[in-house]
Amino acid sequence: MPRPAMFTAPSRGLSGTISVPGDKSISHRALMFSALAVGRSRVEGLLEGEDVLSTAAALRAMGARIERDADGVWHIDGVGVGGLLQPETALDMGNSGTSTRLLMGLLASHDLTATFIGDASLSKRPMGRVTEPLSLMGAEFVSSPGGRLPLTMRGAVPAVPIEYCLPVASAQVKSAVLLAGLNTPGITRVIEPEATRDHSERMLAGFGADLTIERDADGARIISIRGEAELKPQQIIVPGDPSSAAFPIVAALIVPGSDVTITGVGMNETRTGLIKLLQAMGAQIDLLNPRDAGGEPVADVRVRASSLTAIENDPADAPSMIDEFPIAFIAAALAKGRSVFRGLEELRVKESDRIAVMAAGLRQIGAMVEETPDGLIIEGTGGEPLEGGGPVETHLDHRIAMSFAVAGLASYKGVTIDDMRPVATSFPGFVDMMRALGASA
Ligand code: S3P
Repeated sequence: MPRPAMFTAPSRGLSGTISVPGDKSISHRALMFSALAVGRSRVEGLLEGEDVLSTAAALRAMGARIERDADGVWHIDGVGVGGLLQPETALDMGNSGTSTRLLMGLLASHDLTATFIGDASLSKRPMGRVTEPLSLMGAEFVSSPGGRLPLTMRGAVPAVPIEYCLPVASAQVKSAVLLAGLNTPGITRVIEPEATRDHSERMLAGFGADLTIERDADGARIISIRGEAELKPQQIIVPGDPSSAAFPIVAALIVPGSDVTITGVGMNETRTGLIKLLQAMGAQIDLLNPRDAGGEPVADVRVRASSLTAIENDPADAPSMIDEFPIAFIAAALAKGRSVFRGLEELRVKESDRIAVMAAGLRQIGAMVEETPDGLIIEGTGGEPLEGGGPVETHLDHRIAMSFAVAGLASYKGVTIDDMRPVATSFPGFVDMMRALGASA
């Protein structure tokens, strides 16, 4: 079957008011924690993307009842902490690193054996970062060469509580250890020198887990969870995903004459790095009507086309926009001057090697870019459209596909993307939404 390619063309000003699908990180966690509660939870605004559906399918395969009603609300009957059952077949994680790493943590303190498989992209990604701390807790792993999928795990009961200092700034590793700690006697502790998204901590506390957060003398966060917890079912409202909003935000900035508002976007400060970076580049972005939705801050984001100037990123801010660098690189390619991005080694182990893949695609569409071991140096056009071209190879990476689709809107010849299928992992409806704003796609 031919891959569904896409062509996006130079566009006139984008306009309108839209909302984006639910936050992917929060959606995974809402399903997982609900599956461990005692009783029925209700989740509104769940992201119905392939990654989250992989999590739902895995939890169902282990005994949780998960249903979607006609109004799009999800209902989950939890089995209680430690109550998941041996799955009969391998758990297919598709493209989803979050499903894989968080479920490994969750199952590491269950009395079961599980095999994790995934697509070609996921099967290249490192799992040693989670199997290492989970092994210290007593779980056993047989993984493919390089600590990759397919991988089989034998959970430990009882697991051993650990104190673990994160060697990489990763919310997935932090969450894996905390989730393993849920069914481990005593206190499991994670020390996080650099803050990463804190959705697990917020939501676990909301479910009634005994979780505390302190800071040490160096400012590192120390997160402690008491095991053998009983989680109480919750009603959750999932905010719009700031990582999905990033695409229409940058599209509106780079297409002259645009004025777009995106309602109900998550504004957790561990996720707002892109908005701050763009504002520092001169972007006209207003955060309107700030409010709280189910324990997470949200706002409406109004974006107007802007003349952007080059930027040098602060590597310390990278975790707060870790998924947004591909689209930030597109913004930099249209800014005035030379942008320098560094401290981004983690991008090489995302759904694709996002440094190499973005460098190749940007060159293909006429941008001036230099690849460095930990980032990119990009000479912007100063607002002139990019040349365009393609087909750009997306390597099973949704955010690469959406970034270049956006770039095509501010190009002379348009941009062809080789494969748009991966977009369904995080942003079903992306193309229709861009068309509704007036994009030529
Ligand atoms: C996520 C954490 C990040 C991010 C991913 C989602 C999460 O990964 O890139 O898309 O939900 O915890 P890392 O923790 O590996 O940085």
